[in-house]
Parts: sequence; C-alpha cells; structure tokens
Amino acid sequence: MVNRTVEEILALKKQRNAIILAHNYQREEVQEIADFVGDSLELSRQATKVDCDVIVFCGVHFMAETAAILNPDKTVLLPEIDAGCPMADTVDVEELKRWIDRYPYAPVVSYVNTTAEVKALSYACCTSANAPQIVKAVPFSSIIFVPDKNLADWVKKHVPEKEIIAWNGFCPTHHMIKKEDIIRAKKAHPDALVIVHPECRPEVIELADHVASTSGMVRFALGASQKEFIIGTEVGLLYRLKKENPDKVFYPVKKTMICPNMKITTLESILTALKENQYVIKVPEDIRIKAYEAVQRMLTLIS
Ligand code: 13P
Ligand code: SF4
Repeated sequence: MVNRTVEEILALKKQRNAIILAHNYQREEVQEIADFVGDSLELSRQATKVDCDVIVFCGVHFMAETAAILNPDKTVLLPEIDAGCPMADTVDVEELKRWIDRYPYAPVVSYVNTTAEVKALSYACCTSANAPQIVKAVPFSSIIFVPDKNLADWVKKHVPEKEIIAWNGFCPTHHMIKKEDIIRAKKAHPDALVIVHPECRPEVIELADHVASTSGMVRFALGASQKEFIIGTEVGLLYRLKKENPDKVFYPVKKTMICPNMKITTLESILTALKENQYVIKVPEDIRIKAYEAVQRMLTLIS
C-alpha cells in the first residue's frame, strides 16, 4: 500500500515537475520521499534554488509561506492546511504595530517562525541557525525580536552590546524540557554530550554542551568524536541523526517531545496535494514584496 502511494507520488511529481521539501521533524517516510530535508534556513535557501513548477512543502504553514514569498511564480503546496506553528501564532499584528510605534528606533528582527504579515513589518528575518549573527549584523543598536523569548535570550548572551526588546512567545514542544529532565538524562547517560535547540528554556540551555539548529545538531554529531548524545529537540530529528551516524547513539531528552503540527503530513496527504493541487499557499503581493525584503536580507546579510 505504502509502495503504491510512493509510486504514485513519484509519477505525479514527474508529471507536475514538482520538488518535495521536508523539514527535519517530518515523519520518516516523508523524509525518505523528499528531494531535500533540512532546517528552516536550509529550506529557505533551497527554495531560492529549485528549478520546478511546484514545491510541495512538508513542514508547517510559515515554512511554505516563506517558500511562496521567495517564489511568486511557482505553485507552493502545503499538504495539510492545519499544520501551523503555535509560536508563530502568538504574534498579534496590531500589537506588533503598537510596539513599532513605541520603539521607533528599534526595527523588528523576526524569527522565520512568523506569518508573512509579521515578516512584512520586519527589517530582517533570522532562523535558529543564524539568529546571533543576524542581530549582530543589523546596523541598529536596539531591535524588537519576535516571537521566541528563549531564542531572544540566547541571542542576548551572544550579542550583549545590543538592546533586545523581546516578544513573549515560546514553542510548546521545546518548553516541555525542564532543567530536571536534563539532569536526569545526564545521570542516565554520563558519557553523552547534551545538544539542545535554542528554543529551549534558558536554564536548559545553560546545562547543554552544544546549542544548535536542527541541521546544526546533525553536523555537530557528525563531527564529534563522542559516541553518545542526549538530544533536546523534537524527536523527529532522531531519524536523520541515526541514519547519518549509524555508529553513534542518540537519546531524546523526552520521548514525548513531539510537535503535532509537524506530524500531520503523511504520504497520503502528499499524494492528495499533488493530485488535487492543494493547499496552494499564496501571499498577497503587497505583503509578499515587503516580506521578501526581510527574508532576502537574512539570506544576504551574512553569508
Ligand atoms: P530549525 O530551523 O532549527 O529546524 O527549527 C525549526 C523549528 O520549528 C524548531 O522548532
Ligand atoms: Fe512551531 Fe515548535 Fe512546532 Fe517548531 S516545534 S513548528 S516552533 S510548535
């Protein structure tokens, strides 16, 4: 049954000249069928390079929207329209506009986990892979940072010379990890290195040996001489970590660290997306042009 679905997807992909992009948290079988699997930054970069008519984005809404911002002439499909990001949803555009009025000297740097409307109000975007470098590179001494307060805190530690006015958002999945969970995992696996995502709470980050984006974690594990790792991010990443490091062992801090939005996309929904041309993600042109500038600035500010 699954093979039949895979065959159909591959045939339709060819017929429609489509490319499948998938985030590192996607289901194993979705990662397997993708043309490219990566973190938010890599997926944004990939979206600027693909030569195709259709991009099937296996991830959450803001990721497909970013691909649509970068590719107005391509059809961008999000197989599951309910795949959202609760952290991105914490930003109320009207409230953000009030912040912009209140702090006219501080432009907005938005984490890519935001809607196109928020990106359109931003000077530059950033991802977990480049947030401190972007904040350092923007030519302003104060910035408004939305929406992740934990990422903002991590940036502050790296760029203490700048004033960061932080939004109060967070990722419910990464917030599941508490300090005690890391202490417990370290006790159970004393030889393991702890790697966590910058969306984790500051007291969790404090206990980590390394902090990185999802693909940054894969690269770190590949390059490390250690054999065991405790992983503080959504458990979907474990698939790639194990696949690319068959000689190493990975322990999730918590097996329950699942982002439900990242898991709703299935092979069946990808097939339906290609068959029915759904769900087309399109950004109104006036918003897209402004959002494009912020995304593009992220891609060119540091490289
Ligand atoms: P990465 O860009 O590190 O893959 O993170 C995306 C995300 O949504 C983390 O929760
Ligand atoms: Fe959003 Fe967190 Fe899910 Fe990433 S893991 S998509 S930040 S809810």
